[in-house]
Amino acid sequence: MPSLEQLISHTSSPVWMMRQAGRYLPQYQEIRQQYKFLEVCRDPELASTVSLQPLEVFDLDFAIIFSDILLPLCDFGIEVDFPAGGGITVKNPNQYLKGKPGSNIQATTDAIKILRTKLNNLKPQHTPIIGFCGGAWTLATYIIQGGTAKEFNKIRTLMYTDPTYLKQLLQSLSESMAKYLLSQIEAGAEIVQIFETWAGDLGQAEFQEFVKPYIQDIVRALPNNIPKSLYIKNTTPYIADIADIGLDILSIDWKTSPSQTWHTLNRNPANTIKCLQGNLDPLVLTSNNLDLVTEKTQNMLQEYKSLPCLHITNLGHGITPEAQHDSIKKFIQTVKS
Ligand code: CP3
Repeated sequence: MPSLEQLISHTSSPVWMMRQAGRYLPQYQEIRQQYKFLEVCRDPELASTVSLQPLEVFDLDFAIIFSDILLPLCDFGIEVDFPAGGGITVKNPNQYLKGKPGSNIQATTDAIKILRTKLNNLKPQHTPIIGFCGGAWTLATYIIQGGTAKEFNKIRTLMYTDPTYLKQLLQSLSESMAKYLLSQIEAGAEIVQIFETWAGDLGQAEFQEFVKPYIQDIVRALPNNIPKSLYIKNTTPYIADIADIGLDILSIDWKTSPSQTWHTLNRNPANTIKCLQGNLDPLVLTSNNLDLVTEKTQNMLQEYKSLPCLHITNLGHGITPEAQHDSIKKFIQTVKS
């Protein structure tokens, strides 16, 4: 298994974008006119095609496999739907302990294998595939809330009214996600990212009790030498706690300062993180003002340059459907120059 340093050694400026396969691309929209979102996820040929699309258009250094953090839940008896008008619905929360990896997970691992071949044909240099899963807390928010939510009142209530039930659910999810990532690694994923997006809404004590142990469980189940990344939207309050989980990369949101992150991490002698990833505000890319895109990107790069850590340029959260083609191009050109 190549190390993180080896994976990014061909360039001093590796870059990819969270949610890079998706709705801002006309090529993706074209496929979505014919197929529903879940149909694309469940068809390895289509999923690999869509994963490749952003790399055909932009000079990106990583591919992320096209799927969704909620897709593997369908193998465990949970009904997930993405209605045409947007949003998410999740049903059958009590089924969480049932089932085992099945056709949904198989579709993703098959897509990784096809994508490997397609990438080798497209790019002269080796382009790593990022595998991913949702963190147990983030998945549990969808299960307990029944879909998309704003303040997560139901699950936050459960922390205080039935912590035993919630911890069983989190435990079961982290075990399933560890298996899911292992199968992606076996299929060819060379970096993994855990999206614990919605953990950023918790107090620090609750983070330690309901989030950290379950990220740790996933990380410990994986081989030592696979680079492991974590993303939390609103990373700042938890940086000191994240340092000793055993991760290699911390993906930070746009409100989180790279230098403060690096210094806080390294105050913990047990810190394992050697690479920061991020953190341009994705909405910068909705502007057509290319000078502004250049300036914001350069400011971010300048700050990273002053730090003795590895850096993978990315956005501070997923790219939005409104992102502008020329602004994305400018962002990547600025990183590469
Ligand atoms: O390119 C990539 O990054 C790979 C594919 C990917 C998707 N979702 C595809 C997708 C990844 C890595 C995800 C992760 C994901 N999904 C997260 C964590 C990352 C983050 O952005 O915080 C979360 C919280 C989800 C849950 C989810 N799935 C949301 C909030 C949505 C949007 C729902 C809406 O309002 O429409 C989805 C759907 C989804 N996942 C789309 C894509 C491309 C849009 C589907 C479509 O309409 O075509």
